[in-house]
Amino acid sequence: MSVDRRHPVFARVYPRLDAASARIGGDAHRAELLDGASGRVLELGAGHGANFRFYPPAVTEVVALEPEPRLRSLAAGAASAAPVPVSVRPGIAEDLDLDDASFDAAVVSLVLCSVRDPVRALTELRRVLRPGGELRYYEHVRGRSPGTVRLQRLADVLWPSLAAGCHVGRPTDRWIAGSGFSVVRQRRFRFPDSRAPNPAAPHVIGVAVRD
Ligand SMILES: C[S@@+](CC[C@H](N)C(=O)[O-])C[C@H]1O[C@@H](n2cnc3c(N)ncnc32)[C@H](O)[C@@H]1O
Repeated sequence: MSVDRRHPVFARVYPRLDAASARIGGDAHRAELLDGASGRVLELGAGHGANFRFYPPAVTEVVALEPEPRLRSLAAGAASAAPVPVSVRPGIAEDLDLDDASFDAAVVSLVLCSVRDPVRALTELRRVLRPGGELRYYEHVRGRSPGTVRLQRLADVLWPSLAAGCHVGRPTDRWIAGSGFSVVRQRRFRFPDSRAPNPAAPHVIGVAVRD
Protein backbone atom coordinates (compact mmCIF):
# COMPACT_ATOMS: atom_id res chain seq x y z
CA MET A 1 0.00 0.00 0.00
CA SER A 2 1.38 3.45 -0.92
CA VAL A 3 1.70 5.82 2.01
CA ASP A 4 2.25 8.89 -0.18
CA ARG A 5 -0.26 11.70 0.36
CA ARG A 6 0.43 14.29 -2.31
CA HIS A 7 -0.49 17.90 -1.61
CA PRO A 8 1.79 19.79 -4.01
CA VAL A 9 0.38 23.28 -3.42
CA PHE A 10 0.36 22.91 0.37
CA ALA A 11 3.88 21.47 0.26
CA ARG A 12 5.14 24.58 -1.56
CA VAL A 13 3.31 27.08 0.64
CA TYR A 14 3.67 25.51 4.09
CA PRO A 15 7.44 26.04 4.60
CA ARG A 16 6.97 29.77 3.88
CA LEU A 17 4.01 30.06 6.24
CA ASP A 18 6.00 28.22 8.88
CA ALA A 19 8.98 30.57 8.46
CA ALA A 20 6.69 33.53 9.12
CA SER A 21 5.17 31.78 12.13
CA ALA A 22 8.66 30.90 13.44
CA ARG A 23 9.54 34.58 13.69
CA ILE A 24 6.51 35.48 15.80
CA GLY A 25 6.87 32.63 18.32
CA GLY A 26 6.64 29.30 16.44
CA ASP A 27 10.32 28.50 16.99
CA ALA A 28 9.99 29.16 20.72
CA HIS A 29 7.03 26.74 20.79
CA ARG A 30 9.06 24.05 19.05
CA ALA A 31 11.89 24.52 21.57
CA GLU A 32 9.39 24.25 24.43
CA LEU A 33 7.85 21.13 22.87
CA LEU A 34 11.17 19.30 22.74
CA ASP A 35 12.84 20.60 25.88
CA GLY A 36 13.77 17.58 28.03
CA ALA A 37 13.10 14.94 25.35
CA SER A 38 15.41 11.92 25.42
CA GLY A 39 16.06 8.49 23.97
CA ARG A 40 14.60 7.06 20.75
CA VAL A 41 11.93 9.37 19.35
CA LEU A 42 9.23 8.93 16.70
CA GLU A 43 8.04 12.12 14.98
CA LEU A 44 4.82 11.83 12.97
CA GLY A 45 4.05 14.07 10.01
CA ALA A 46 7.39 15.84 10.25
CA GLY A 47 6.62 18.15 7.31
CA HIS A 48 9.77 19.89 6.07
CA GLY A 49 11.60 19.08 9.33
CA ALA A 50 11.04 22.32 11.23
CA ASN A 51 11.44 20.56 14.59
CA PHE A 52 14.72 18.82 13.84
CA ARG A 53 17.10 21.57 14.94
CA PHE A 54 15.41 21.71 18.37
CA TYR A 55 16.08 18.12 19.43
CA PRO A 56 18.29 18.15 22.54
CA PRO A 57 21.47 16.02 22.79
CA ALA A 58 19.80 13.45 25.09
CA VAL A 59 17.80 12.28 22.05
CA THR A 60 19.71 9.32 20.61
CA GLU A 61 17.72 8.85 17.40
CA VAL A 62 14.68 10.35 15.65
CA VAL A 63 12.58 8.35 13.21
CA ALA A 64 10.57 10.96 11.30
CA LEU A 65 7.60 9.90 9.16
CA GLU A 66 6.20 12.13 6.43
CA PRO A 67 3.69 11.03 3.78
CA GLU A 68 3.93 14.09 1.49
CA PRO A 69 6.80 13.47 -0.98
CA ARG A 70 7.98 17.07 -1.47
CA LEU A 71 7.90 17.82 2.27
CA ARG A 72 9.64 14.51 2.91
CA SER A 73 12.47 15.46 0.62
CA LEU A 74 12.83 18.86 2.35
CA ALA A 75 12.82 17.02 5.70
CA ALA A 76 15.65 14.78 4.50
CA GLY A 77 17.69 17.96 3.85
CA ALA A 78 16.88 19.30 7.32
CA ALA A 79 17.81 15.92 8.83
CA SER A 80 21.34 16.17 7.47
CA ALA A 81 21.83 19.42 9.41
CA ALA A 82 20.14 18.23 12.62
CA PRO A 83 22.08 18.08 15.92
CA VAL A 84 20.99 14.44 16.51
CA PRO A 85 20.62 11.47 14.11
CA VAL A 86 17.33 11.77 12.19
CA SER A 87 16.08 9.31 9.56
CA VAL A 88 13.17 10.39 7.39
CA ARG A 89 10.76 7.79 5.98
CA PRO A 90 7.35 7.63 4.32
CA GLY A 91 4.60 6.63 6.73
CA ILE A 92 1.13 7.46 7.96
CA ALA A 93 0.05 7.93 11.53
CA GLU A 94 -2.92 5.58 11.41
CA ASP A 95 -0.90 2.54 10.33
CA LEU A 96 2.62 2.54 11.73
CA ASP A 97 4.96 -0.09 10.36
CA LEU A 98 6.89 -0.06 13.66
CA ASP A 99 7.33 -2.48 16.56
CA ASP A 100 5.32 -2.33 19.78
CA ALA A 101 6.95 -0.40 22.66
CA SER A 102 9.97 0.51 20.53
CA PHE A 103 10.14 4.28 21.28
CA ASP A 104 10.84 6.33 24.41
CA ALA A 105 8.95 9.36 23.10
CA ALA A 106 6.70 10.45 20.25
CA VAL A 107 6.24 13.95 18.84
CA VAL A 108 3.24 15.42 17.02
CA SER A 109 3.28 19.06 16.07
CA LEU A 110 0.43 20.54 14.05
CA VAL A 111 -0.34 17.05 12.75
CA LEU A 112 -3.36 15.59 14.55
CA CYS A 113 -5.41 18.39 12.97
CA SER A 114 -4.61 16.88 9.56
CA VAL A 115 -4.57 13.09 9.88
CA ARG A 116 -7.70 11.39 8.60
CA ASP A 117 -8.31 9.38 11.79
CA PRO A 118 -6.67 11.05 14.80
CA VAL A 119 -8.05 8.62 17.38
CA ARG A 120 -6.62 5.68 15.46
CA ALA A 121 -3.31 7.58 15.17
CA LEU A 122 -3.27 7.97 18.97
CA THR A 123 -3.94 4.23 19.39
CA GLU A 124 -0.99 3.51 17.10
CA LEU A 125 1.23 5.97 18.97
CA ARG A 126 0.34 4.32 22.25
CA ARG A 127 1.22 0.93 20.78
CA VAL A 128 4.72 1.92 19.64
CA LEU A 129 5.59 3.84 22.84
CA ARG A 130 7.04 1.93 25.76
CA PRO A 131 5.01 2.07 29.00
CA GLY A 132 5.91 5.40 30.61
CA GLY A 133 7.01 6.81 27.25
CA GLU A 134 6.16 10.42 26.46
CA LEU A 135 3.83 11.88 23.88
CA ARG A 136 4.92 15.48 23.23
CA TYR A 137 2.32 17.55 21.39
CA TYR A 138 1.95 21.01 19.93
CA GLU A 139 -1.42 21.35 18.24
CA HIS A 140 -4.11 23.82 17.48
CA VAL A 141 -7.35 22.74 19.12
CA ARG A 142 -11.03 23.43 19.69
CA GLY A 143 -11.60 26.73 21.48
CA ARG A 144 -13.40 27.16 24.77
CA SER A 145 -15.84 29.95 24.07
CA PRO A 146 -19.07 29.25 22.15
CA GLY A 147 -18.17 32.04 19.71
CA THR A 148 -14.80 30.47 18.84
CA VAL A 149 -16.34 27.01 18.50
CA ARG A 150 -18.98 28.40 16.12
CA LEU A 151 -16.27 30.11 14.07
CA GLN A 152 -14.24 26.89 13.97
CA ARG A 153 -17.27 24.84 12.81
CA LEU A 154 -17.75 27.30 9.99
CA ALA A 155 -14.05 27.30 9.04
CA ASP A 156 -13.94 23.50 9.04
CA VAL A 157 -16.51 23.36 6.23
CA LEU A 158 -13.94 24.73 3.76
CA TRP A 159 -10.50 24.89 5.40
CA PRO A 160 -9.63 21.14 5.20
CA SER A 161 -9.96 21.17 1.39
CA LEU A 162 -7.63 24.19 1.14
CA ALA A 163 -5.05 23.12 3.72
CA ALA A 164 -4.33 19.44 3.06
CA GLY A 165 -6.94 18.12 5.48
CA CYS A 166 -6.23 20.48 8.39
CA HIS A 167 -9.20 20.99 10.75
CA VAL A 168 -9.12 23.91 13.15
CA GLY A 169 -11.78 22.72 15.61
CA ARG A 170 -10.64 19.29 16.74
CA PRO A 171 -10.65 18.57 20.51
CA THR A 172 -7.23 16.94 20.19
CA ASP A 173 -6.27 17.60 23.82
CA ARG A 174 -9.40 15.71 24.96
CA TRP A 175 -8.68 12.84 22.58
CA ILE A 176 -5.12 12.51 23.92
CA ALA A 177 -6.36 12.35 27.51
CA GLY A 178 -8.93 9.72 26.49
CA SER A 179 -6.54 7.48 24.56
CA GLY A 180 -4.57 5.80 27.34
CA PHE A 181 -2.26 8.72 28.17
CA SER A 182 -1.94 10.73 31.39
CA VAL A 183 -1.30 14.41 30.78
CA VAL A 184 1.62 15.52 32.95
CA ARG A 185 1.72 19.11 31.76
CA GLN A 186 -0.15 21.22 29.27
CA ARG A 187 -0.23 24.89 28.41
CA ARG A 188 -3.12 26.49 26.49
CA PHE A 189 -2.57 29.74 24.63
CA ARG A 190 -3.60 31.75 21.61
CA PHE A 191 -1.20 31.90 18.70
CA PRO A 192 -0.84 34.40 17.19
CA ASP A 193 -1.48 36.23 20.45
CA SER A 194 -4.05 38.68 19.13
CA ARG A 195 -7.67 39.36 19.97
CA ALA A 196 -8.67 39.30 16.31
CA PRO A 197 -11.10 36.44 15.59
CA ASN A 198 -8.98 33.54 14.33
CA PRO A 199 -10.38 30.00 14.34
CA ALA A 200 -6.85 28.53 14.32
CA ALA A 201 -5.60 30.51 17.32
CA PRO A 202 -6.33 28.16 20.27
CA HIS A 203 -3.21 26.00 20.81
CA VAL A 204 -1.82 23.55 23.34
CA ILE A 205 1.70 22.40 24.09
CA GLY A 206 1.93 19.42 26.39
CA VAL A 207 3.47 16.17 27.53
CA ALA A 208 1.41 13.06 28.22
CA VAL A 209 2.73 9.73 29.43
CA ARG A 210 1.63 6.36 28.07
CA ASP A 211 -0.28 4.54 30.82
C1 LIG B 1 0.69 21.44 9.12
S1 LIG B 1 1.83 20.24 8.64
C2 LIG B 1 2.91 20.16 10.06
C3 LIG B 1 4.27 19.67 9.74
C4 LIG B 1 5.24 19.59 10.93
N1 LIG B 1 4.83 18.62 11.89
C5 LIG B 1 5.44 20.91 11.58
O1 LIG B 1 5.35 21.00 12.81
O2 LIG B 1 5.75 21.88 10.87
C6 LIG B 1 0.89 18.74 8.78
C7 LIG B 1 1.71 17.53 8.37
O3 LIG B 1 0.98 16.33 8.65
C8 LIG B 1 1.23 15.44 7.60
N2 LIG B 1 0.16 14.42 7.58
C9 LIG B 1 -1.08 14.53 7.07
N3 LIG B 1 -1.76 13.38 7.22
C10 LIG B 1 -0.91 12.53 7.85
C11 LIG B 1 -1.03 11.17 8.28
N4 LIG B 1 -2.15 10.48 8.11
N5 LIG B 1 0.04 10.60 8.88
C12 LIG B 1 1.19 11.31 9.07
N6 LIG B 1 1.34 12.60 8.68
C13 LIG B 1 0.30 13.19 8.09
C14 LIG B 1 1.25 16.31 6.37
O4 LIG B 1 1.84 15.68 5.26
C15 LIG B 1 2.04 17.50 6.89
O5 LIG B 1 3.42 17.32 6.75
